[in-house]
Amino acid sequence: MKKVSILVVAVLLGIITSCSEAASSDDEVRYFTMDGDKLQRPTDYRKWVYVGTPTTPNDMNNGKAAFPEFHNVYIDPTSYKHWKATGEWREGTILIKELVSVGTKAAVSGNGYFMGDFIGLEATIKSKKLFPNEPGNWSYFSFTNPGSKELKNTATAFNTNQCNSCHEGNAQDDFVFTQHYPVLRAAKGAGEGITPENTSSRPKTMIIGEWEPSAPTPENLDLEIPLEKEALFAYLKSGAYKEFKTQEKEKHPSTGPHTQVGLPVRVFMNDGIANSLASNRDEHPMGASIVKEMFNKNGELSGWAVMVKTQDGSDNGLGWFWYEVTSTEDSGALAAMGNGVNGCISCHQIGNRDMVRTSFPFQD
Ligand code: HEC
Ligand code: HEC
Repeated sequence: MKKVSILVVAVLLGIITSCSEAASSDDEVRYFTMDGDKLQRPTDYRKWVYVGTPTTPNDMNNGKAAFPEFHNVYIDPTSYKHWKATGEWREGTILIKELVSVGTKAAVSGNGYFMGDFIGLEATIKSKKLFPNEPGNWSYFSFTNPGSKELKNTATAFNTNQCNSCHEGNAQDDFVFTQHYPVLRAAKGAGEGITPENTSSRPKTMIIGEWEPSAPTPENLDLEIPLEKEALFAYLKSGAYKEFKTQEKEKHPSTGPHTQVGLPVRVFMNDGIANSLASNRDEHPMGASIVKEMFNKNGELSGWAVMVKTQDGSDNGLGWFWYEVTSTEDSGALAAMGNGVNGCISCHQIGNRDMVRTSFPFQD
């Protein structure tokens, strides 16, 4: 009897230790060091997994981009592995954003934006243990020393409203802007044994232009809004959508990038979409239609953005007809027109409401 119980205890202990090892091993691996509440400048990150390089050059932002440079983003290898296995960020995830100036704008290959020099370093870390009170347990740091050639050696976390809020509201996956990192999108929950870059499949976005349709628009649908180029423009000019019962009372500053963030917009919804949103449906029915008026800085109407469901299923945005025109006189001033426009989808897929971004019911 005694022997048996010792055996049981031993086995149990074995199970317990192996479980806790499995649970803690990844969590315990850290690629950074805290000095009290200060983060020491991370090192060796150029050996981590590189996930992408967004750029917001001054020339495309009225000469005053908030971060007018390249952002080379890296993630620590253990967190990448965990993301690939689970599609989630583990305790201790760290992402580095290394700032690189825009250098020359011409090369033998053509005109463009070419990287200049390393000018700054930022980091974000997810840790429940270290940042229990931060939204999502993410904290943000910068080692950049404007006007100096030296980076700081330690950094204190920014206040929540300086960094977290924008990430919380706009990033696709738990505060991280995976919509701008193809490496992370390809790896999300792909499976432990899978190496995404070794597979032959490539998403359509890599082949088809961002603002081109990636699916045919069904013809001869009997919808409230015509989908043919000239007929649609004439419909918008006529203002017929103003008959929709569900509409924002007034124009208000846009939070999206249509025209320019902050310029006025006003949204109109037909019954198909309004009823579907009101009943929290995952997918909106065929015929669901939204028209968004866009205004210039003088408050004059300057164009329209339109979304129309051409089938019941969302099909990752292929089931939506996307349209944006940036003139009220020229039907040819199109930003995009057709089903499955990936440039529109990449932003509109955030939020799990079958592509609809505006808050609903409308706030007065
Ligand atoms: C107005 C919105 C906004 C604010 C405010 C903001 N960020 Fe970001 N951040 C972004 C966007 C968009 C990206 C991804 C594309 C890019 O790098 O431009 C990003 C990416 C990052 C990344 C790379 C990892 C990731 O989460 O995608 C880090 C690190 C980062 N930001 C740090 C900071 C720090 C530090 C602050 C505060 C000083 C800050 N951010 C404030 C919009 C914002
Ligand atoms: C960079 C992100 C982004 C891109 C790209 C984008 N949108 Fe939007 N869009 C938004 C956001 C955010 C809102 C809601 C907030 C607002 O407009 O103030 C919105 C709102 C809309 C609305 C009103 C209904 C709704 O979903 O809230 C329409 C219609 C629309 N967009 C059409 C388009 C079309 C067509 C394209 C492509 C040509 C496009 N959008 C590209 C972010 C984006």
